[in-house]
Amino acid sequence: MSGPILITGKNGQVGWELQRVLKTRPVIALDRDAMDLSKPDSLRRTIADLRPSIIINTAAYTAVDLVEEEPDYAQMVNGNAPGIMAEEAKKLGALLIHYSTDYVFDGSKREPYVETDQPNPLNTYGMTKLIGERAIESSGANYLIFRTSWVYSARGRNFLLTILRLAREREELKIVNDQIGIPNWSRAIADATAAVIAKLQPPKKPARGRPSSKDLTGTYHMAGAGATSWFGFAEAILEEIHQGGFPATVMGKVPITAKKVLPISTAEYPTRARRPAYSVLDSTKLKKTFGVELPDWREQLKTAVTSQATP
Ligand SMILES: NC(=O)c1ccc[n+]([C@@H]2O[C@H](COP(=O)([O-])OP(=O)(O)OC[C@H]3O[C@@H](n4cnc5c(N)ncnc54)[C@H](OP(=O)(O)O)[C@@H]3O)[C@@H](O)[C@H]2O)c1
Repeated sequence: MSGPILITGKNGQVGWELQRVLKTRPVIALDRDAMDLSKPDSLRRTIADLRPSIIINTAAYTAVDLVEEEPDYAQMVNGNAPGIMAEEAKKLGALLIHYSTDYVFDGSKREPYVETDQPNPLNTYGMTKLIGERAIESSGANYLIFRTSWVYSARGRNFLLTILRLAREREELKIVNDQIGIPNWSRAIADATAAVIAKLQPPKKPARGRPSSKDLTGTYHMAGAGATSWFGFAEAILEEIHQGGFPATVMGKVPITAKKVLPISTAEYPTRARRPAYSVLDSTKLKKTFGVELPDWREQLKTAVTSQATP
């Protein structure tokens, strides 16, 4: 692959980690100022100028509740921009790697969702992300859509950092126990993505015996093993805190006040956007196709916690 790898959302959770894991390759990582996904013309022009061999689109409007208030903007960023990127990728013969979400599903299943399950988003975020998926699928470009879930990292806004903050402010944390999913560390997602890229060959010259991105175009679930609720996730974070898992650099000087986590229902914690009660992703297809899998969510958390000193 001759052109650089173009990463969007360079300051986001996944975008940040991707720059780290792909640093041995020519990478151009852009933030919102350099490439605004809500501006189709400049989006097209930037891609055409940079001539990437792979576009990795991590940028998205991910604030699930705020999206309900700005559906048109979310549609531009999550729904339209991925299709534009796919069209430009097609013109260049580039591969588009894009991330989507477990929130394309409505949660009515009680066993892990596979890629062929019918999406039916409950909220605008999930709907706009699904529109983005469909635009990519119908573009004719070579693409990999990785659906992931419940992403956290040492930066940005996420559940792990929220619990770390609340653990210093409250004695008891009340956390929703009736939404089940899989928490994923952004670095594990970035590592898995890099491992997939390493297995691919350029579409024009596939090496004998190795698959090209054209053969493997499609949607894949990319999440760790196991599953938990937000309550279970919070309990695990608190467990790590009390076991001294977090380095002092993360814990700072403010003492931890939280002693326990109490389970509550979604009805007791109403939010602007509805969320699926069950959105566990089955990532068997990713493993079978690329030999790539993310660790169990609890193991990911343990590794993430001990690595927080080097965000
Ligand atoms: N976070 C989750 O729990 C979760 C769950 C399932 C799937 N996903 C998907 O995984 C992918 C990566 O998520 P993430 O957690 O890394 O997201 P994130 O931390 O929220 O980062 C998203 C990035 O997108 C950028 N962005 C937003 N609007 C933009 C625009 N108009 N133009 C250019 N950049 C824009 C943001 O820039 P600013 O920093 O300037 O705002 C931010 O850097 C996304 O596709 C997301 O939908 C995430």
